[in-house]
Amino acid sequence: MECTDTKKIIIAVDGFSSCGKSTFAKAIAAELGYIFIDTGAMYRAVTLYALDHGAIRSGIVDDDAVKRTLADIVIDFRFNQARGASDIYVNGDLAEGRIRTIEVSNCVSAVSSIREVREKLVAMQQQMGRKRGVVMDGRDIGTVVFPDAELKIFMTADPHVRAVRRYEELRAKGDDVSLEEIEENVISRDKADMTRAISPLRKADDAIVLDNSAMSVSEQMEWFRERFREAVSR
Ligand code: DC
Repeated sequence: MECTDTKKIIIAVDGFSSCGKSTFAKAIAAELGYIFIDTGAMYRAVTLYALDHGAIRSGIVDDDAVKRTLADIVIDFRFNQARGASDIYVNGDLAEGRIRTIEVSNCVSAVSSIREVREKLVAMQQQMGRKRGVVMDGRDIGTVVFPDAELKIFMTADPHVRAVRRYEELRAKGDDVSLEEIEENVISRDKADMTRAISPLRKADDAIVLDNSAMSVSEQMEWFRERFREAVSR
């Protein structure tokens, strides 16, 4: 889609876990020549760092220990030509693969409910989007990070469909996981994300819902092009 003569906007893609938000947001960014920012990867990176530095032991998150690690964590994204997307680095180390393990998934909701974690990452996200021309995916982009985003999309899909998608993704990477544990993780993260005290997952009043349970990526892109045209002509 040609967008050189249109103003650059912020596109917020929020929604439930394993809805295909990143795939969708990445495809949008590639089409528009926008920067794609996966904010879930940032919460995962903090969780991975906490696991590596003893702030999470036997699945128990020590909030104070996580807060103490915050000053030492440096997160950056570097574009990977081969993948056509950015990889996340934690203190200079490539962390893209390690942030997506079930161990990280099981602890990330608890870590992302810590106020200081959110404050640090939200400030980073606002800085990354200050020039606009970004597609940011997460849980609170349209409500907290960029409440003034010109286009807000709220993605949802049937929990079982989401679990099967994540299961297939992890199995393809060689992870030995069961569909049951993935489904449990998806449901418990939905609950934790929606009920946490700070910035719970909720649809912004002006967000448009995209339920992609039975939609292909190309159908979602068709849907998006229409919404984008409307947003830039407002
Ligand atoms: O999108 P994801 O499943 O990789 O996100 C991992 C976790 O990070 C998710 O369970 C909730 C949290 N998260 C958040 O609290 N706020 C965001 N903007 C993005 C993710």
